[in-house]
Amino acid sequence: MSNFTFSRSEARVREAATIVPGGVNSNFRLGVAPTPLVFERGEGPYLHDIDGNRLIDYYLALGPMILGHSPADVIAAAHGQLDKGLLYGGQSELEYEAAHRVSAMVPCAERVRFAGSGSEAVQLALRLARAVTERLTVIKFEGHYHGWLDSVLWSNGTPFDQVGPEESPTKYRASAGQDPATGENLEVLSWNQEEQIVSRIAKGDVAAVIMEATMCNSGGIFAKPGYLEAVRDACTKHGTILIFDEVITGFRVGPGGAQKRLGVTPDLATFAKAMANGFTVAAVAGRAEIMDQLSSGHIMHGGTYNAQPVAMAAAIATMDRLVQSETFEAMERNGTRLMNGIAEAFAEAGLPATVTGYPQIFTVALGLTEPAENYRGLAKVDRAAYRHFTAALLGNGVRALERGAWFLCTEHTEDVVDETLAAVRKTLADIGPDLAHLRA
Ligand SMILES: Cc1ncc(COP(=O)(O)O)c(C=O)c1O
Repeated sequence: MSNFTFSRSEARVREAATIVPGGVNSNFRLGVAPTPLVFERGEGPYLHDIDGNRLIDYYLALGPMILGHSPADVIAAAHGQLDKGLLYGGQSELEYEAAHRVSAMVPCAERVRFAGSGSEAVQLALRLARAVTERLTVIKFEGHYHGWLDSVLWSNGTPFDQVGPEESPTKYRASAGQDPATGENLEVLSWNQEEQIVSRIAKGDVAAVIMEATMCNSGGIFAKPGYLEAVRDACTKHGTILIFDEVITGFRVGPGGAQKRLGVTPDLATFAKAMANGFTVAAVAGRAEIMDQLSSGHIMHGGTYNAQPVAMAAAIATMDRLVQSETFEAMERNGTRLMNGIAEAFAEAGLPATVTGYPQIFTVALGLTEPAENYRGLAKVDRAAYRHFTAALLGNGVRALERGAWFLCTEHTEDVVDETLAAVRKTLADIGPDLAHLRA
């Protein structure tokens, strides 16, 4: 049934577990079905693993590789900097140039500070918000992921039997070893419930509201019409800082991220992933009057590797490509073709599934007949069945995330999309009998 096998990866990961716990360096790389993979190289839309497989890749490293795995312009820009210096512990023209690029593309970006990872950028945004408002309470939403640090790793994947009432969701501590005290000034609300968030902000004690403006981590869910605007207005009225976490959507759903595409401008926004196509660059961007508070030094922001020059050169080259209109036009076209094709394939197989999100990052929710409105709406997704599907799809040469997300890059051309859709159809035929319980 399966054309591809992964026995070398499986053995290597198992052996490596004697030196690297679990054989992986991020827990997101555990639990990959049928096994975490070991790769030799990437080119365009493909990854080549140590079993000799060439896989069409829709993981895209969980988002960064928007220009594919080997973009010549980004690589040349990084090469160009390698001979000039790796890290100065001081400034370079490259970081100023990169900041100007961000500012030209992103509506809220009057000022920009670079950081090393999305998690760090979130830490900076929250610290800034608490400092400038002189308030402590931060509100986040069920199912939204803002990195793995103690302060925000709450209720991003609450088991559905523990979510509690929708009016007061359980504040769910997502990791063993996470200091419970770090959640004391964090409140968790249900997303897309306008009345709930607006009345909470109106109490006047909230430093910041942080959200994925489109919920991409738990499943391609758009804000209801008027929701983002209502939160924006309430924040403005009551002195609360609105933070959009654009670590996934930034530089991916359009050159100006979700805020530009949706027409709602936050006070601060966090970025990483697609802004440097695989190089470690993250950023906080936002209003001058907030960001300039960092100049005096009383609000701490550190990071040895911030604005590393090689990564900055790569970020500039990446952004230069993303501002070219044909870059996004082609991704819109090919991503829409892929979304529609997947939806048709599941429908033809008689399987309930929704395909929601943007052409550049969307989610397949197997088991749903209507798009979910928030995290709770995903309770009926058959995760085990979808995981079985992605494992079988990998056996047909296509690598997509087990949790339902598909990331698109510029190298997923029409031909690659068609090859992908053929693999999806073949997979659904291969495993059809195993999914019988999902058919009405
Ligand atoms: C929306 C969002 N915020 C923050 C993060 C954390 O970023 P990083 O993994 O670079 O720390 C992620 C990572 O997936 C994310 O999706």
